[in-house]
Amino acid sequence: MESIEHDFYLNPISIGLVLLAILTLWIYKRQGRTKLPPGPWHIPFVGNALVLAADPDLRKSLGRLHKQYGDIYRLYMGPKLAVVISGYETIKEVFVKRGGEFSDRPESLISSIFSENQGIVSASGDLWKEHRKFTLTTLRNFGFGKTSLEGKIHTEVTILLSEIAKRKGKPFRIQHLVQTSVSNVINAMIFGVHFKHDDPNFEKVMTMIDEILENIGPKNVVTFFPFMRYMPGDMFHVKKTLRNLRYIEGFIGDLIDKHMENFDENKIEDFTDAFLLKMKNDRDYKDSTFTKNQLAKTVLDLFGAGAETTTTTITWALLYLAAKQDIQARVFREINEIVGTDRLPSLQDKRQLVYTEAFIMEILRACNIVTVSLPHTCKVDTTLRGFDIPKGTILLPDIDSVLFDPAIWGDPEEFRPERFIGEDGNLLNPEEFIPFFTGRRNCVGESMARMELDLFIPALVQRFEFLPPEGTVLGSKELEGVFGITHKPKPFEIRAIKRKKT
Ligand code: HEM
Repeated sequence: MESIEHDFYLNPISIGLVLLAILTLWIYKRQGRTKLPPGPWHIPFVGNALVLAADPDLRKSLGRLHKQYGDIYRLYMGPKLAVVISGYETIKEVFVKRGGEFSDRPESLISSIFSENQGIVSASGDLWKEHRKFTLTTLRNFGFGKTSLEGKIHTEVTILLSEIAKRKGKPFRIQHLVQTSVSNVINAMIFGVHFKHDDPNFEKVMTMIDEILENIGPKNVVTFFPFMRYMPGDMFHVKKTLRNLRYIEGFIGDLIDKHMENFDENKIEDFTDAFLLKMKNDRDYKDSTFTKNQLAKTVLDLFGAGAETTTTTITWALLYLAAKQDIQARVFREINEIVGTDRLPSLQDKRQLVYTEAFIMEILRACNIVTVSLPHTCKVDTTLRGFDIPKGTILLPDIDSVLFDPAIWGDPEEFRPERFIGEDGNLLNPEEFIPFFTGRRNCVGESMARMELDLFIPALVQRFEFLPPEGTVLGSKELEGVFGITHKPKPFEIRAIKRKKT
């Protein structure tokens, strides 16, 4: 008897349990002094991972928590405090009206190890402000909203159409073809180059970008427990991600080196040229942030943030068109009436292609590619509607709570492009339509993405009828996506049947 008791008291498991209980009490006592937003019960250091993992549909988990705890609630991401901000008015209050306080990025494995807090996406403070402004102005000069970019996109659209035609109406996976075309639009803007659809080196880079986006993010526990990256082997894919990143950086580095060798300040033709010119002009300014490393990280951000999101939006559109033949027929009818089939749809047509544009907006709303916007943080302790928000808290804007709010959309679960068409037949642009987010950190590439969607999607419908493989029906189950950094359709096959000229 004595030895059993002795074993119990000295058993490492019981010692661990006692320590955990003391720690839990200490954490709860400490939290009692701060008035944190409400939230579900959590296990110290493990956090609320189980609450989020309960449903494979992240949107449903977030929807339930929003309903239960309101617009501002807390979740623990491992040991880190995160506060989810939901609902349009609250998102506007936090990220627009008080955007100056909540526009930094939190420290994370992604920001510190992978991006070294450089570039745009992971940068904060003055570095972020300076480079976000430079990038926006430069990209605008090279084409956002201009006919020069329209020409570049048309070149990629034409190549994509001929690649699809080669599949001769047989079922195939279209995602990869779209990804190459969309990435080539970014290549044209940044480096003035084009890679062929079968270029093995560029294919390798795109596969690596895909792998990185799959392996980082909320699903990987290393995001919340960075020390786990030191575990033996590579079960959390950190080493693989770093290897991929170094390879891509080498690929980008070679393109930058070529630009440096051929640099002519009187011939500034792309984003890299403009950055190198700024580097040259700043060469006597020792604190200049315009460095080769910052250029490489910015380029990587534009690829990382721009290629996958736009590709995913176009593939969602094709999947919905194949699933909803009545909508596809109406989009085609409109394009056929206004543009015909002899030339590609242009940006000029956009104002008249009201239903097509409403369809694209409904895809952006219903498929909501970036479910929870990128994480934000605050530099100092502050409060929000009476709740304490300690410095360094991760703030997660729940875009889905806005794009699926029944009070705004009435029937958000229905896929209904008509919701974006007013009674006068013109397009509506509700301020709550925020797939590109809002405030100071809104998407840098929104104009470019909108141009791509407006040129790729109508051209695809103009030339092909999209159908599911024979004998398959696309129901609501097939329209369910998977959640990583973005919300993507599950891999699918589609048939593209060439339309007859009218
Ligand atoms: C349909 C396509 C796209 C969608 C839905 C989308 C959406 C978003 C969202 C929701 C954010 C997060 C804002 C935040 O909370 O911090 C973001 C940020 C960003 N996006 Fe996009 N995006 C798209 C395409 C693009 C493209 C084409 C580019 C550039 C070529 C781009 C570049 C960026 C960058 C650099 C940021 C970070 C901004 C910052 O940190 O200041 N995006 N995007």
